Amino acid sequence: MSRARAAIILAAGQGTRMKSDLPKVLHQVGGRTMLDWVISTVQGAGVSRIVVVVGATAPALSEHVTKKIGANAVAVQDPPLGTGHAVRAAEPALADFDGDVIVLYGDGPLIQSKRVDELFALRAAKGGQAILAFKAKNPFGYGRVVVAADGAVERIVEEKDASEPERAIALCNSGVICADAKALFRLLSMAKNDNAKGEYYLTDVVALGRSAGFQTNVLVGEETETLGVNSRAELAQAEAIFQARARSAAMDAGVTLIDPASVFFSYDTEIEPDVIVEPNVFFGPGVRIRRGARIHAYCHFDGAEIGENAEIGPFARFRPGSKLARKVKIGNFVEVKNANMAEGSKASHLAYVGDVDVGARSNLGAGTIVCNYDGFDKYRSTIGEDAFIGSDTALVSPVTIGDRAYTGTGSVITKDVPDGALGVARGRQVNLEGWADKNRAKKQKPKEPK
Ligand code: UD1
Ligand code: MG
Repeated sequence: MSRARAAIILAAGQGTRMKSDLPKVLHQVGGRTMLDWVISTVQGAGVSRIVVVVGATAPALSEHVTKKIGANAVAVQDPPLGTGHAVRAAEPALADFDGDVIVLYGDGPLIQSKRVDELFALRAAKGGQAILAFKAKNPFGYGRVVVAADGAVERIVEEKDASEPERAIALCNSGVICADAKALFRLLSMAKNDNAKGEYYLTDVVALGRSAGFQTNVLVGEETETLGVNSRAELAQAEAIFQARARSAAMDAGVTLIDPASVFFSYDTEIEPDVIVEPNVFFGPGVRIRRGARIHAYCHFDGAEIGENAEIGPFARFRPGSKLARKVKIGNFVEVKNANMAEGSKASHLAYVGDVDVGARSNLGAGTIVCNYDGFDKYRSTIGEDAFIGSDTALVSPVTIGDRAYTGTGSVITKDVPDGALGVARGRQVNLEGWADKNRAKKQKPKEPK
């Protein structure tokens, strides 16, 4: 049996450079908070216990963690006295935990489950503690991994405490470390704050471990996967890395992206093979596109399921609760919200399809509006199969349009239309013979000179 796995996620930093009312780790990358990325990543690596270390000044963060994992997953660090001090704040929450623990940062959303699993595996195979490091293009600001003459890792030295030769070391500490939980807390209880920043450093466990006979093993990863977000610019950088990953994954899975750089994904976007996505498309959370669909340019999706071989856009918008069956066609300037559209149904131009069930093969003409809201409540309408909604029909919900029924162009439909019937609700046309000519003659009559 492999050992139990826990994670401590550090998130007590102030995040002042974000200049935000929202705690830093609750800012989103790919439609999901950075903290939720880290939580889902460690869960994907078999972690069963999670403790998030939060500051005293971020009640929104504690609330978020309590809602997501439970109140016992919150550890408050007050005041923040360094990364080592932060890890110690999680000790009471893990008092009954026996196994390995990984420490990560809540503002590092790009690390992946595979890497976390590798660190646990390295620690299991070699004992001691395992750290994730990387070769930095510009190591300034990072802790450097100092390797002793015998090839063993001796310690990690922070930028501010490093000598000139130590600053020349390219191998940098990512901050992610995996160790036996009890051993880690024991070592951290011995750490001191006699350093340049006057903080309790988590990194001191490497040197402390060495004196206690625990070796540190290094896993070398990529700099991009440990990018920490401290500013809006770094948030955008993290977003760009996520988008690049999502685009490659979609193409690897058989999706055509005509211009990958202009297509934006969310963390949970699901697109089946043989879907073609034209340029400038945005997928918000909760979207699934089924096999063979074609997404024309400039579409926006949020909480929508698009059926097989559907044809969508250009310029279509889907809001949560949109569910389209096979071969549905949605054309330009159509908005769909909380609506079911059965197989082969169509809204090809300029329509609002909100809170409505549309039967198979029914056609919604240009300018169809489902008037679903009276300023206080929402109402739902139903359109049967093979129905034909004339252009510029306003369906005042709740109404039911029967199977095979028609509505006359320009109608304001307030009553149900039975199966096979035509519902017309508009003023009758009256022609006044000669009126226009007479009017023109009158208006164009030259003025009498004075
Ligand atoms: C830390 C590492 C450094 C590493 C770098 C990687 C230490 C001493 N240094 O430095 O070796 O190269 O990360 O980015 O660990 N935090 C708390 N409570 C605190 C202090 C920090 O929760 O009291 C959290 C922060 O919110 C942040 C993380 O810990 O998410 C890292 O803190 P930060 O101050 O950015 O550490 P660095 O100086 O960058
Ligand atoms: Mg940092």
